[in-house]
Amino acid sequence: MAHDRAMDRRRFLRAAASLPLAAGLVAFASPLLRFLKPNVDPFDVLQPTRHDPPAGEPVVAATLAELQKPWDFKYFVYTQKYPQYTPEGFRSASVPGVAIRLPAKIRMPWDWVRATGETPQFTESEIIVFSRICPHLGCIYNFVQDWREITAGYGGYVPPRERQHALMGCPCHLSIYDPADPEMPGRVLSGPAPRPPRTFFYTIEGDRVLVRRVEPGGIA
Ligand code: FES
Repeated sequence: MAHDRAMDRRRFLRAAASLPLAAGLVAFASPLLRFLKPNVDPFDVLQPTRHDPPAGEPVVAATLAELQKPWDFKYFVYTQKYPQYTPEGFRSASVPGVAIRLPAKIRMPWDWVRATGETPQFTESEIIVFSRICPHLGCIYNFVQDWREITAGYGGYVPPRERQHALMGCPCHLSIYDPADPEMPGRVLSGPAPRPPRTFFYTIEGDRVLVRRVEPGGIA
């Protein structure tokens, strides 16, 4: 009897001793598993809701005079306010962006805008506005007007003939994006990025391209 009790106690102590080890393994593995499964969809925590959509004051991304010809572009910075589930409430972050004049109209990837209650001004446009935060690990990528520069400086990628135009390239791990892909603007052509860069919703007022909202979601 006494022997059984001693056995039970030893088993209990052994199980209790292994708990911190198991917890440590879980804590170590979870970021790795998160990295292996990139976030293709926007994070739920930053999904717009009726009460706390990520937003900011409208910003002039460019004027139409600055975006006259195909592949004219303009960099800008947008201050995004987003809900933060801490006692500090809303936070803000600077989001660098790029407004681009494309050579032809493409369908705007704005399905997410309707969830915010906004009515898009148009569903097709030659002007598109991307966040410059690389969806891989958050570096700031560049708009590269001459695709040969991509080939020379961004890992030797040679685009197929129909994509030999301005592209976007990230210097960190060499992801390359096509801003003018008609099916999926910002399509990943090469490199480890899991999805196209996020887009900005904008309106055109007079001569100004006014950025109003950035697609919700995390960096990667
Ligand atoms: S952060 Fe841009 S490719 Fe890795």
